[in-house]
Amino acid sequence: MSNRGQSWVVLKFGATSVSTAAEWHTITKILMRRRAENQRVVLVCSAIAGASDLLDASLADAQRGDFRPTLARIQTTHDSLAAKLGLNASEICGAALRELERTLMGVSLLDETTPRQRARVMACGALMASRIGHAFLRLQAVDVGWVDARSCLLATEADPHATPSMRYLAASCESTGDSTAVQTITEVGTPIVITQGGVARSPRGDTVLLGPGGSDTAAAYFAAKLATQRCEIWTGVPGMFTANPHQIPNARLLRTLDYGEAQEIASTGARILHPRCIPPLARANIPLHIRSTSHPEGSGTIVGARNLVSTPQVKAVSARKGIMLISMDTIGMWHQVGFLADVFAVFKRHGRSIDLLSTSETNVTVSLDPTIPLEGAEPLALLLSDLRPYCSARAIGPCAAVSLVGDRIRALLHRLGPALEVFEEQEIHLVSQAASDLNLTFVVNEDQAERLVTRLHNELVTADGNDAVMGATWQSLCRNEDRPPATPRWWHGDPNQIVALADHGTPTYVYDAASVRQACSDLVAMKHVNRLFYAVKANAHPQLLRLIVAQGLGLECVSPGEIDHCLASVPDLLPDQILFTPNFAPRTEYEAAFARGVGVTLDNTEPLDAWPDVFRHREIKVRIDPGQGRGHHRYVRTAGAISKFGVAPDQLDALEQRIRALDVKVVGLHAHTGSGIRTPENWCDTALYLADVAQRFAEVTHLNLGGGLGVPEKSGQSPLDLAAVDATLAKVHTAYPQYDLWLEPGRYVVATAGILLVRVTQTKRKGEFMYVGVDTGMNSLIRPALYGSWHDIVNVSGLARNETEMVIATVVGPICETSDTLGHKRRLHAPREGDVLLVDVVGAYGRSMASNYNLRPPAREFVHNDAE
Ligand code: LLP
Repeated sequence: MSNRGQSWVVLKFGATSVSTAAEWHTITKILMRRRAENQRVVLVCSAIAGASDLLDASLADAQRGDFRPTLARIQTTHDSLAAKLGLNASEICGAALRELERTLMGVSLLDETTPRQRARVMACGALMASRIGHAFLRLQAVDVGWVDARSCLLATEADPHATPSMRYLAASCESTGDSTAVQTITEVGTPIVITQGGVARSPRGDTVLLGPGGSDTAAAYFAAKLATQRCEIWTGVPGMFTANPHQIPNARLLRTLDYGEAQEIASTGARILHPRCIPPLARANIPLHIRSTSHPEGSGTIVGARNLVSTPQVKAVSARKGIMLISMDTIGMWHQVGFLADVFAVFKRHGRSIDLLSTSETNVTVSLDPTIPLEGAEPLALLLSDLRPYCSARAIGPCAAVSLVGDRIRALLHRLGPALEVFEEQEIHLVSQAASDLNLTFVVNEDQAERLVTRLHNELVTADGNDAVMGATWQSLCRNEDRPPATPRWWHGDPNQIVALADHGTPTYVYDAASVRQACSDLVAMKHVNRLFYAVKANAHPQLLRLIVAQGLGLECVSPGEIDHCLASVPDLLPDQILFTPNFAPRTEYEAAFARGVGVTLDNTEPLDAWPDVFRHREIKVRIDPGQGRGHHRYVRTAGAISKFGVAPDQLDALEQRIRALDVKVVGLHAHTGSGIRTPENWCDTALYLADVAQRFAEVTHLNLGGGLGVPEKSGQSPLDLAAVDATLAKVHTAYPQYDLWLEPGRYVVATAGILLVRVTQTKRKGEFMYVGVDTGMNSLIRPALYGSWHDIVNVSGLARNETEMVIATVVGPICETSDTLGHKRRLHAPREGDVLLVDVVGAYGRSMASNYNLRPPAREFVHNDAE
C-alpha cells in the first residue's frame, strides 16, 4: 500500500509548542504553509505544559481522598489557554473533564491507582489539548477534523509476562502500513486532522499510554501507518545539537543525521526527541525533521538513512546522569562456565535491565538501566547480596555516562588522545563501545559530567563553520533571531564604556555594586532562611563588605586575619555578626575567637580532648560532615569520606559524650557540602541530615546549611533557582519548626558582579594554535588553572570597533607555567595589541586567591556603580 501520492505529513507539537496563544498562531501558519505545498497533515498534539504534572497529582490526591482542588486547577489551566484563544473551554473540554472526574472518583474509592486508571487519567491531557487546538483552528477557518488517536493506534498484544504497568503505561503498536488507520483518517474528509500524542487502544479496547516520550512515538506510528512523506517533530529548540546547548552555548546545530546516530544521541542524554520514535521511522524509511516553533524558518535537523559517503566525525557529546554501576570482581571465576548466565539471572530476578557492560579477566562492570528507578537503598542492597555467592559486588554511583556519538567512531580513535587527557584526574569506571560503532561511552562520577562534556566538545567539535552536517552554533542562532543573550550581564551595552573602565589601568578587577546588592536582596527575600552570613573568603574588598553588611548579612570568617579585616573594614560590626568557622586551627585561634565573642564553629572532636579548658562551659556550633559532598570540582567538595572537614557520622557518639563531659552547649549545627552547586535540593538534604543529628543536642537553635550556592559559569547556563531552594527549605521548617535555618554564601553574593579587564600584549601562532597574550594570568585568576573553570572572555575593544574578523585563540598570561591560561580555544573578535579583553564572572575567588607568583603583582580592584 502506498499513500505517498496523497502526500500526507505528520506534524507533532510538544507541550512547549501548544501551550500559548502565540504558539497556536505559529501552528496555524505552519499548517497553511503545508497546505500551500499541497500536503495533507496529521497533527499530533501533546498535553499542554504542566497538565501532565497536574493529572499525575490528581491521582495522588484522589487516593488521599480529595482530588477536587487539583481537578479545578486542571480546568483553570485549560480554561485560561482557551480564553486566550477566544474559545469557551467548558464547551470544548467539558466531556473530557467529566470523564476525568468519573475516573478520579473511582480511584478515590480504592486504596491504589491501577495502571488502567492511570492511563485513562493521563490520556485526558492530550485529549483536552487536541480539542482546544481543533476548536481554535476551526475559528481560524482552517479545514480541520478531529480524530481520537485510539481509533487508529491499536497496541500490540502484550508479552504474557508483561506486568499491568507495562501493558497500560508503556504499550507498543505495529509500525507497518495500516489500511484501517488510513481509512479512519481519510474518512474524516478534511485535509488536516488533529489527534493526540501518547495514547493508544489495547486489544481489549482500554486506553493505554505509549510510555515516556509517547507523543513522539505516536507521531512515528502515524507516519509509518500512513506511509507519510515525512514526520515533523516541532519542539522549542531549533533542532538537535552537538551538545546540550544550555550547557555549551557554542554547541552546533546538527543539520543531518542518520537514524542510528539520532537514536544514539536521543538515548545518550539529549531530551529533545524520544529514542523510541526512531525505529518505526527507520523501518519505513520515513525522514524525520526536527523543527522549532520559536524558529519556524530554521531548517532544523533532518534524520534519514545512512549517508555512506560521509566522513567519520564526532557528531555529539552527551551526558546521562543518575547512573548506578555494579562492579563485580570475579576472582578466578571468569573462566567458569555459566558465570555470566548466573549473575545476569540475578539481575533478571530483581527486574533490573543492564544498559552498559564492560569486562576484563577479573571484573565485570555493568550499568543499570536508569529508566527503571532505584527507590531507596534497599533494592540495591538486596541485589548486591544476591550477587555475592558468585562474585564480590559493589555499587558505584551516582555516575554519569559521557558519550561521544558519531557514525564509524572507531575510525576516530587516534584523534581522541588529547581529548581524553581530561580523564587524567578522573577515575573512569567503565568504557563501552557499541558494536554498531556509533558510540563510545565513559562512565565517570556524576559531578564530573558537565566539565568533561565541555572539554570533550571543545576538543572534538570545531567551533566554527557551516557545512552539510553541522550548522551554526546555538549562540549565533539565538543572536540571529534577535533574542537577548541568555544571561544578561550588567556590563552588556556600550562596549566603549567598558574599554573606558580599563583606562584606570589594567589588569584590574571591576565589581558592580548594584549586582552585589541585587544578589543580597534575592537571598534576603528567601522566606525560609532566617540568617545569612557572607563567606568573606570569596572576596574581601572592604567596600563590598560594607555594602553586604548594610544589606543585612553577617560575615563568615575562617581565620583571625579575616576577622581583623572585617572589623577594620566595617564600622560598628558586632561580634554577633561574625562567625568563625576555621578548620585545623591552633588552640590560640579558638581562645582568641571566644575572647572576642564571635560565633565559634568546631569542626573536629579532637580539640575537645586536646584542649578541654578552651571549650568547657562554652557555647559552640559544630560542623558535621553530612557524608556526601557536592560542587563544581573535587577540590571544592567539602564533605564525604575524602574531605578533611567536619565530624563524620561514626564520630557522633564520641562527640555527644565529650560535649556532655565538658558541659558544652551546642547551639548550632553546621554543614557545608561544597561550592558551586546548582542542585536546589542540596540545602534541604543537608538540613534534614542536620535536623536528625540535632536530636542529640537539646540546645540547638539553628542549622547552618553552609554556602555553595552556584552561579552559571557561562552565558546560557541556567542559574540556581533560589525560589526552588526556598521551597525545599519550607519542608524543613514545616517538619522542624524549632530550628532557624542559616546560609553562608560567598560566590552567589559576588561572583557575577566581577569582571577582570586585561590588555593584549601580543598574539602568536604556533602550529595550529593561536595564542593571545594578556597582561596577567594565573597570578590574578587561578581558577582556570586550578579547577579547569570556564570564564567567558570577550574582546571589548574588538566589539567597540565593530571588528568583523573572528578568531579561535587560547588566552594566556605572562606566568612561567603551561597552566597559565585564562581560556582555551575561545572565539574572539580578532585581537590587536592593546585591546581590552573582559574575563567574566570573576567576582568570587578571583582576587581573593591571587598571588605574587613570578613577582608579578596581581590585578588591582575597584568598585563601580557605588555611591560610597
Ligand atoms: N562556608 C564554608 C564553611 C566554606 O568553606 C565556604 C567555601 C563557604 C561557606 C562559601 O562557599 P560558596 O558559597 O562561595 O560556594 N576557591 C573555590 C571555592 C572554594 C570554596 C571554599 N569554601 C572556587 O574558586 O571555586
